[in-house]
Amino acid sequence: MCGIVGYIGNREAYPILINGLKRLEYRGYDSAGVALFNGSLENFKKKGKVSDLEAFVAGKNHGGNIGIGHTRWATHGEPSDGNAHPHTSMNGVFSVVHNGIIENYARLKNDLSKHGYRFYSETDTEVLANLIEYFYLQNEEMTSEAAVQLALSKVVGAYGIAVLCKRENDKIVVARKGSPLVVGLGNNEYFIASDASPIAGYTSQVIYLNDEDIAILQHDGFTLKNVQNNPVSLKISNIDLEIGNLDKGDFDYFMLKEIYEQPLTIEETFRGRLQNDYSEIVLGGLLDIFPKLEAAERIIIIGCGTSWHAGLIGEYLIEEYAQVPVEVEYASEFRYRKPIIRSKDVVILISQSGETADTLAALHLAKSKGATVLGICNVVGSSLARETDAGVYTHAGVEIGVASTKAFTAQVTVLTMIALKLAKQKGTIDLKEYETLVKELSEIPEKGRLILESNEKIKQIAEKYYEATNALYLGRGYLFPVALEGALKLKEISYVHAEGYAAGEMKHGPIALVDDNLPVVVVAPQDAYYEKVVSNIQEVKARKGNVIAIVTEGDTGLKELANDVIEIPKSHPALAPLLAVIPLQLLAYHIALLKGCNVDQPRNLAKSVTVE
Ligand code: AGP
Repeated sequence: MCGIVGYIGNREAYPILINGLKRLEYRGYDSAGVALFNGSLENFKKKGKVSDLEAFVAGKNHGGNIGIGHTRWATHGEPSDGNAHPHTSMNGVFSVVHNGIIENYARLKNDLSKHGYRFYSETDTEVLANLIEYFYLQNEEMTSEAAVQLALSKVVGAYGIAVLCKRENDKIVVARKGSPLVVGLGNNEYFIASDASPIAGYTSQVIYLNDEDIAILQHDGFTLKNVQNNPVSLKISNIDLEIGNLDKGDFDYFMLKEIYEQPLTIEETFRGRLQNDYSEIVLGGLLDIFPKLEAAERIIIIGCGTSWHAGLIGEYLIEEYAQVPVEVEYASEFRYRKPIIRSKDVVILISQSGETADTLAALHLAKSKGATVLGICNVVGSSLARETDAGVYTHAGVEIGVASTKAFTAQVTVLTMIALKLAKQKGTIDLKEYETLVKELSEIPEKGRLILESNEKIKQIAEKYYEATNALYLGRGYLFPVALEGALKLKEISYVHAEGYAAGEMKHGPIALVDDNLPVVVVAPQDAYYEKVVSNIQEVKARKGNVIAIVTEGDTGLKELANDVIEIPKSHPALAPLLAVIPLQLLAYHIALLKGCNVDQPRNLAKSVTVE
């Protein structure tokens, strides 16, 4: 999964490409490159981040009005200069950038080798570049787009590609299947990108390519058809995207900035949706579809990673208050395991980016079975937002840190609103409790601000434990998914092995891990499970484990028992995840920093997983 950009017009292409790549770095950041028509066809590529590419290109001739660019997340071949895109065909006729996976690349490579082709990288993309060139050189009449079409007809897998041909230096050919591509329509100029964010500052008119579409972009116009050479109907969309702020402000890392933004982003997410007297929740995006939600016999919530954790909280909320059976599924499992999906099911897909390949595949499956599909999504105009029947945006603003923080609390805020609204419509909640919950939800941002004041204390706790090689996170009820999320945060940014568990499950296995080296983070506010969680803490202490407890402010009992405590304000138990997760995010952040890790761009990961 990678990011693609391209430009053809009268401006200088290079700065547009570099700025676009910075916007797309969330899709991968292990190498980057650009190809430009600059008298000849120039390729610049470098292992590392887009900033490393910039440093490499500085001082070199990077002029030209036509170019393509790429930021990579390695699938075939390790991150290296040689495996970076663009890939040039053996005779130097084509430069190709690619997002996706060519599944039959080994067979194609073998066939091309028989025709004398040699390969200089380990990538599937180089095979595609050579395949295009092979067809192109077969026939003098052949155009580059025809060669692309022919090559793609032999390919099994997913692709979003942009192609430059040295002998036709007035065009870019782009095509997609499975991997998104957007074409921005300017004034005698065209922009290409994997999502609309790099385009947003230049034009509001875009075409989202559909699978098997191929577009030929030239200074004086463009042609759109499909890879079988049939014309396709043109749908121009207007995007109204805010160009998200890519500035860290006073913070050292985007992750810390985003953790601190949460009081505001939670507020943004419910702004205009909670009525002032707490009597109503208004979800405009679900207005037309709400009767289907009320009639649903079952709700299936689907997501990956952090979004899946938010989905688990959604399950607890919807089952408790709206009394509709809910199943929560990993998208990667759901899409392949032949699930039973009925037309009266409502499927809710959760995704920050709206571009996660598994989640989109699950969406397509659910849709094909006739279910109503709803989205909870942060990125306006993303594939998920466009392809669901209806949905609710999270309004968390652009999230840059690979470790999701503010998107999670925004997703939980939306799920809370959906659960409560559904419960009210169905008459399954006492109106007084409903109003109490809505009022308390509106008070969460203020309580979140108070938790952020513990940052220094959490840093000191991190200093005590950052050398541990394992950690256990425990929680019960609404706070079990929070334990999972806390463990995921620690794993992904500090590379410390961490397990999240339902506290009651500890005695069924994980307790064997407990010794005096193991930090055990227990989410233990004073709720209905409190006594039981205290017993779990006793069990850890009896085995010399080190307990870091997240407690309700003023809880003196746990202060005595735990090695360290972090206080959070009292809240309704159903809303506690929105608060309890904040200290866990900060703890992971400080541990990762102390270990010298790149908090915003951890190794091996990408912000959005656009391949399976
Ligand atoms: C979260 O910290 C992770 N980086 C990851 O699990 C993420 O939540 C997952 O890949 C899903 O992404 P999405 O919400 O954009 O679909």
